[in-house]
Amino acid sequence: MTAQAQRTVLTYGTFDLFHPGHVQLLKRARELGTRLVVGLSTDEFNALKGKQSVMSFEDRKAVLEACRYVDEVFAEDDWDQKVPDAIRLGADVFVMGDDWAGKFDFMAEQCHVVYLARTPDVSSTEIKQRMRAAPAVVLHA
Ligand code: CTP
Repeated sequence: MTAQAQRTVLTYGTFDLFHPGHVQLLKRARELGTRLVVGLSTDEFNALKGKQSVMSFEDRKAVLEACRYVDEVFAEDDWDQKVPDAIRLGADVFVMGDDWAGKFDFMAEQCHVVYLARTPDVSSTEIKQRMRAAPAVVLHA
């Protein structure tokens, strides 16, 4: 494939407890181009946002890198890095779920901005709540 034919899609997130909502978002994002690059929130950046993931940055990164729709993963550790990232990576499309609708319209100066409909009824938060509510499992030898 020539460099001209390449269309780079950029997205960001925490991707804790990788679930079908993440899969759908990444699949549809990848379909908008030929290369999908993910800015993955570091544990330190999440702490700044008041968010704590169950899986470490390294583990979340390893899972994302194993996903067939993801071509590259890099660290997101700053609110203000999106524009320089888009320039550095030559991003053509910026994608987020529609829970972020309108929040990243400023990226339209760099690339096409797309908000994809969230997959209903699943989130990392909801999985954590379900795990907390689940009765303890007793294993018998
Ligand atoms: N996403 C989605 N559908 C879902 C959950 C997430 O499309 N059901 C998208 C988000 O909109 C975002 C990306 O997946 O673009 C990464 O979201 P992230 O915040 O990591 O996932 P959540 O499951 O929403 O996490 P949390 O519950 O911690 O907010």
